[in-house]
Amino acid sequence: MRFIGALIFWVIVAIIVFFAFAFSGIYQVGADVPHWSVTRHAIGMVREHAVDRRIADIKPPPLDDPALVKLGAEHYSEMCTGCHLAPGMGHSELRDGLYPKPPNLTRFAPDPAEAFWIIKHGLKMTAMPAWGATHDDHTIWAIVAYLQKQPRMSADEFKSLTASASGMQGHEAVPASAGSVPAPPASTAPASASGMH
Ligand code: HEC
Repeated sequence: MRFIGALIFWVIVAIIVFFAFAFSGIYQVGADVPHWSVTRHAIGMVREHAVDRRIADIKPPPLDDPALVKLGAEHYSEMCTGCHLAPGMGHSELRDGLYPKPPNLTRFAPDPAEAFWIIKHGLKMTAMPAWGATHDDHTIWAIVAYLQKQPRMSADEFKSLTASASGMQGHEAVPASAGSVPAPPASTAPASASGMH
């Protein structure tokens, strides 16, 4: 009985301390102040186990097909370089201000099943979007295939592989329905209209 009384007492104390902390406003929410190392380790541990649990049944298809790699490179150059860089790209203003900082994917090839899952579903509380909302599995595997080659790719190879990518269909079509994005000035409308079908 005394044990239960003490337990209830300490649970109430913990709740009061939590709300006092939350309402005090002292917690640093700015992206330019790093987490405590204990918070960083806790997030890393939760993320690692959560992803491992979900990728156990994912079997990567063959990823060596050059056409698949090219398709992936085109999508990567349109959607990912601002955060994850590309061959020949030193840094980006977007990436420099992000916390956690997106990994430089020109330095290592991520595990295929894990990369597929993260690209498709995104990662909460980071800037990594869920691309599965707008891209099918085939396209996501193509991006994974490209990522396996990227660390050994020169800037010129990347340029020639993605030369036909600018203005890819579909990518400009999204802002029109996104609501909060202001409409482009009238003079640029015809250029973006070409990707609207
Ligand atoms: C707005 C920024 C942003 C964009 C755009 C973005 N990512 Fe990410 N990405 C992140 C962040 C942030 C992380 C997670 C960093 C962390 O947890 O430490 C991440 C994680 C990843 C990882 C996991 C890497 C690892 O093994 O640790 C992969 C793979 C990845 N992104 C691929 C992509 C691809 C492919 C695209 C384009 C289709 C993309 N990302 C677009 C921000 C971005």
